[in-house]
Amino acid sequence: MDKDVKTILDERCAEIEKHLAAFTADKPELQGIVTEAMEYSLMAGGKRLRPILMLEFCRMCGGDFEKYYDLACTIEMIHTCSLIHDDLPCMDNDDFRRGKPSCHKAFPENIALLAGDALEVLPFEVISDAALNGVIDAKTGMMLISVLSKAIGVNGMIGGQVIDLQSEGKEISLDVLNTLQAYKTGALIEAACVMGVILSGKYERIGEAAAYASALGRAFQIIDDILDVTGSFEELGKPIGSDEDQNKTTYVSVLGLDRSYAEAQLLTEQALAILDGFEDSEFLHTLTAMLLSRRS
Ligand code: IPE
Ligand code: IPE
Ligand code: MG
Ligand code: MG
Ligand code: MG
Repeated sequence: MDKDVKTILDERCAEIEKHLAAFTADKPELQGIVTEAMEYSLMAGGKRLRPILMLEFCRMCGGDFEKYYDLACTIEMIHTCSLIHDDLPCMDNDDFRRGKPSCHKAFPENIALLAGDALEVLPFEVISDAALNGVIDAKTGMMLISVLSKAIGVNGMIGGQVIDLQSEGKEISLDVLNTLQAYKTGALIEAACVMGVILSGKYERIGEAAAYASALGRAFQIIDDILDVTGSFEELGKPIGSDEDQNKTTYVSVLGLDRSYAEAQLLTEQALAILDGFEDSEFLHTLTAMLLSRRS
């Protein structure tokens, strides 16, 4: 790979944002406020990690990833939905996200809730239309829908959010914390990687992609928990100290800062070792290592 990682990352992010923007370009006359709220949160920035992972696994497995930007946007829609809902007063009650007022602060709370809902169903329209329009075949479409829907549901992101809420103010074991995280954050990251492999057609690499994602997902949430204590609002674009304010049980509250970081380092090494099994993995290698020292 000739171009440097930062240039590739910037180019792919710009392309992802161009495709994301198209999904909310039309605002229906009567109910357009919900599209505005979807656009507000989708286009507020963010690292675009999950679509980047989907496209990169597709590319590393020999797929023609440039055809699949719309499909890569689906995982960012679900992620953005999870953030809109995560910030609601009945959830983490956070007023800022991606450096701007949270969706429910920029729009009425009921509209924010519905914008999240709309972002949660739009991916299924996008995937099924891609199959109906011949961008992917029907079996690929069904496989993508199967992986994505499971990653969102009771044994995925939603389940993780439930365990997260129910763990507030409680002492939980490291096992429960790992499960909470694997569902809450790991599931969508895993879906991103596995969907990329599915798009390439190299199904035999799904297991390795899932194992990489499981290690990366846990490292990613540990760093998120650490940054909630050691980061700044300017760097992260979201409130600092939110976990403590909400009595969250996090890696930092269970293991402390040093052990949490050591765990994230170990998991990153595991993720990198799995990547070594993939050809042409330097870009993802560098990105994975960068995520360990991220400040945003
Ligand atoms: C934040 O995710 C929520 C977690 C699952 C830890 P990101 O850190 O990927 O958020 P954005 O997309 O960059 O805003
Ligand atoms: C968020 O975890 C996980 C999901 C949104 C599914 P957090 O509550 O730790 O995320 P931040 O710190 O608000 O971004
Ligand atoms: Mg939360
Ligand atoms: Mg939160
Ligand atoms: Mg957090």
